[in-house]
Amino acid sequence: MFPENFLWGAAMAANQCEGAYREGGRGLSCVDLLPDAAHGRWDMLYHPEKYLDTEFAYYPSRRATDFYHRFPEDIRLLAEMGIKAFRTSISWPRIFPQGDETEANEEGLAFYDRLFAECRRYGIEPVVTLCHFDTPYALTQKYGAWKDRRMIDFYCRYCRTVLERYRGIVRYWIPFNEINMITHIPFLGGGLLVAKEENPQQAVYQAAHHQLVAGANAVRLAHEIDPDNRVGCMLAAGSFYPYSCRPEDVMASIEKNHENYLFIDVQSRGAYPSYAKRMFAEKGVRLAAEDGDEALLRENTVDYIAFSYYSSRLIGTSEEALKNVADGNAVTTLRNPYLAITDWGRQIDPVGLRITMNDLYDRYQKPLFVVENGLGCEDRVEEDGSVRDDYRIDYTRQHIRQMAEAMADGVECMGYLPWGTIDLISAGGGEMKKRYGFVYVDLDNEGQGTLERRKKQSYEWYQRVIASNGEEL
Ligand code: BG6
Repeated sequence: MFPENFLWGAAMAANQCEGAYREGGRGLSCVDLLPDAAHGRWDMLYHPEKYLDTEFAYYPSRRATDFYHRFPEDIRLLAEMGIKAFRTSISWPRIFPQGDETEANEEGLAFYDRLFAECRRYGIEPVVTLCHFDTPYALTQKYGAWKDRRMIDFYCRYCRTVLERYRGIVRYWIPFNEINMITHIPFLGGGLLVAKEENPQQAVYQAAHHQLVAGANAVRLAHEIDPDNRVGCMLAAGSFYPYSCRPEDVMASIEKNHENYLFIDVQSRGAYPSYAKRMFAEKGVRLAAEDGDEALLRENTVDYIAFSYYSSRLIGTSEEALKNVADGNAVTTLRNPYLAITDWGRQIDPVGLRITMNDLYDRYQKPLFVVENGLGCEDRVEEDGSVRDDYRIDYTRQHIRQMAEAMADGVECMGYLPWGTIDLISAGGGEMKKRYGFVYVDLDNEGQGTLERRKKQSYEWYQRVIASNGEEL
């Protein structure tokens, strides 16, 4: 069913697991300023300016799950599970603490030397995101982060540094995590404080243009530095369905999908799509571009399409439809009556993965890579120490089945990396209670716990899936 070289793996991100936020010369990252869930982190994500100068007792990402110190144990656990690929990110402020220095921080690089060497020791292929919600905060303070074009140079210096350092060690690169997230959570996506802007949409799309140009530069550099490098874009995916067969609903779903495709159209096809003109006009956006941007985007398209998938989304136009909403991973979606829903309000739609994969492959005709998928929910440690997460097994099994169906439909897919394989801090809520892992970490929402790692029931299940190359589900 799955090709021999299929990359079964695991996905995590520096900002949600490393912690050690002041160690090894690391600078502050935007994510370090997000307080815990009890202080309304969702509000913080949308209105960061209200919180930035306020003191809170606990900032979860600062210690996170202490992967910085515990990575040998974590990589060993993942290796024992049999993974072939491990997605993580490099924390940009570990390498350039202020973001605009000309010299890299050697201690930060030394940490990733050790981490990638550990992966290689077990024959694990690292898949590295260059920026996963981890813009150095100093760049926000000094330049307003990605709204300033100088960010392209800072980012390129950082990219060159790590691409050269890890030549031959890391082959799979992703310039930005969920690049379309900048339109939904601009502070995490691009270090932006949009409330200060006259037209927030202008600021967001201008910043997005800078990221797209920076991303094309990353592709160029990666290919120049090592022609064996493979670089992918990364979309927060999940196709929008129309609420009904009412033509207005269908048109609304096309428009919503365009808002996401816009980014991948640029990164994969090499130019802004034709619908961008109208979209920008309606949002009052006038992009400032420079000579050379067009050619750079055209000549440096990505090799594969990486994406996260948690659920499909739904859009409609009638008053009735608009009454009932759910969480579409930082994106508002309508409640789909045909789908189950998690305690965190996220809908469960395995078939939607097959639909999304067909949509993306039809559109781009490049290999896809599922680099995030998973069920965020509360787990309980039983008296005998076990964590019986059969619900997670069921969720993952159903999604793998639908991925296999998509592949049988003819979609090329490089691998499957379930999200947060070892429990980590959730990005949206900033909490520990919402867990994704096959490995449990003893830590609670207030930051209490021993940080001890414990295999859940899903751990052995996934181990068998990998060992049987997806035959035993
Ligand atoms: C993706 C992000 O959007 O969704 C991850 O890339 C995030 O960083 C994941 O953790 C799940 O979302 P949440 O809010 O449940 O952590």
